[in-house]
Amino acid sequence: MPSIPASLSQRIEALVGIDPELRPATKPQFGHYQSNVALRLAKAEGRPPRDVATDIVARLNIDDICEPIEIAGPGFLNLRIRRDVLAGAVNDQLASPTHGIEQAAQAKRVVIDYSSPNVAKQMHVGHLRTTIIGDCFTRVLGALGDTIIRQNHIGDWGRQFGMLIEQILFEQLDLDTLDLPGAEQLYMRAQRHLEGDETFQAAARERVVLLQGGDEDTLAIWRRLIAISTAGFNETYARLGVLLTDDDLAGESSYNDALAGICDDLESRGIAVHDNGALVVFVPGFDAPAILRNSAGGYGYDVTDIAALLRRVRDMHADRLVYVTDARQSHHFQVLFALCRMAGYLPETVSAEHIGYGMVLGADGTPFKTREGTAVHLDDLLEEAEQMAAPEIALAAIKYADLSNQLQKDYVFDAKRMTATHGDTGPYLQYAHARVCQILRRAADASDASTSGATCTDETTDTAKSSQTNSPYLVSTVAEPAEQTLALELSKFGDVVAEVAQALTPHKLCAYLFALASSFSSFYEQCPVLKSEGEVLTSRLALCQATGDVLATGLGLLGISAPERM
Ligand code: ARG
Repeated sequence: MPSIPASLSQRIEALVGIDPELRPATKPQFGHYQSNVALRLAKAEGRPPRDVATDIVARLNIDDICEPIEIAGPGFLNLRIRRDVLAGAVNDQLASPTHGIEQAAQAKRVVIDYSSPNVAKQMHVGHLRTTIIGDCFTRVLGALGDTIIRQNHIGDWGRQFGMLIEQILFEQLDLDTLDLPGAEQLYMRAQRHLEGDETFQAAARERVVLLQGGDEDTLAIWRRLIAISTAGFNETYARLGVLLTDDDLAGESSYNDALAGICDDLESRGIAVHDNGALVVFVPGFDAPAILRNSAGGYGYDVTDIAALLRRVRDMHADRLVYVTDARQSHHFQVLFALCRMAGYLPETVSAEHIGYGMVLGADGTPFKTREGTAVHLDDLLEEAEQMAAPEIALAAIKYADLSNQLQKDYVFDAKRMTATHGDTGPYLQYAHARVCQILRRAADASDASTSGATCTDETTDTAKSSQTNSPYLVSTVAEPAEQTLALELSKFGDVVAEVAQALTPHKLCAYLFALASSFSSFYEQCPVLKSEGEVLTSRLALCQATGDVLATGLGLLGISAPERM
């Protein structure tokens, strides 16, 4: 269901032909919304604004939504939503299994490429963001009815495996004892070993050839390294509470067989050319070419992504491709998309979006690094936040901090600020939700107490009611401005989720939930709930119920839990 302000706006625009630009009224006595549309039209038409306003009011047929429109001052339109409309909207939302989220008119098949860490390296602070953001996209688009195909494009192929495997053989390492942190140590030892030891360098190179040639013993070790790494990734995913599973793994190595064919295709059609021994594509509009095959005959990141895109378009039948990586890879993806459009691999009917996010900064405002200067491990960050709060709250803090700013911006990882229970934080929203639950629990206890012993509860009516709605309460009156503001805020939920799904802007969902929690706070301050009676009590409880539903659902879309007690 479109929100009340959205339908109001559409109806006025249909009559006057321009956006009425509704603004919330500055004072309750002016109604709920104000529009200066008459003033803007009057200017364009060279007529007195109040005449234009009078005209609009006479021709506008919206008394099914609004009270009679007032013309104020030079020609402002003051709009007041009818109380029964406000009450009805909340009741519809209470009855809706999705709490007002509408299914997309045309469900899409969306491939979301996210997380995508590298084998034999622990996930670092950069992978935190892609994992949290991609997971949120999965949840939001899934809620609209899209089919989501998650792709974890792990870095499981490349020259580094030569030195890793040689180092394992050199140390006669027992792979049964190796875990992901251990594999990362191994990586560093291999790198040090490589420096200055030419015999080892040659052995590592030879090992890459064996790996690419499909040598079974080499492949066996390589597979073990992948298993060790994915086990480590899965521990982190479980800790983060994200949806990725082993079924979503589609590592770089899974494209090996397709690479030569892609090179041939592009070369035979004159799209790829030889340049200093390498096979490359010059894409109009970009300075640096995409490298399909280097002069040593090796395939790299660019051509692997072409193969991945082709699989997603041709085999998975995707309508929408989404890639979540840090903003520094933006150029890579712009070249990839342009190249694939040019080659006919990416039809115009399929959209491709790279969502590049900013960096995580330390308290000093510089990129988050360890004392040794390496990127901070994701697990260390989780631990830091968990020193401030229980795991469920710490996680809410991290996810919300990550999602509540425009993704492209850098953000400061400040465990203290983000775990605060006041202000624009994840824990604040969890508390707001828990508080709503507490009110509803108290109300239920009170009504149990008053009806216990009563013999004449009307069972039939009760059941009839609960089959229509998830809530035992319905709104019948919203006389107070704070009740009305809350009802209007609630009605926007579906529109906000639809917008976030379209533009992939989770910060707008965060801002909405924060505004909703604030409206709820004002309502709760101004309108006693448990101390009221009769239909006022029931109506207010219904508003509480709807707020709780929307907060829990909204937090769920961000990947944040909404405990009932805190
Ligand atoms: N493994 C890469 C990294 O850690 C990210 C891969 C992103 N996905 C892709 N299809 N290129 O930076």
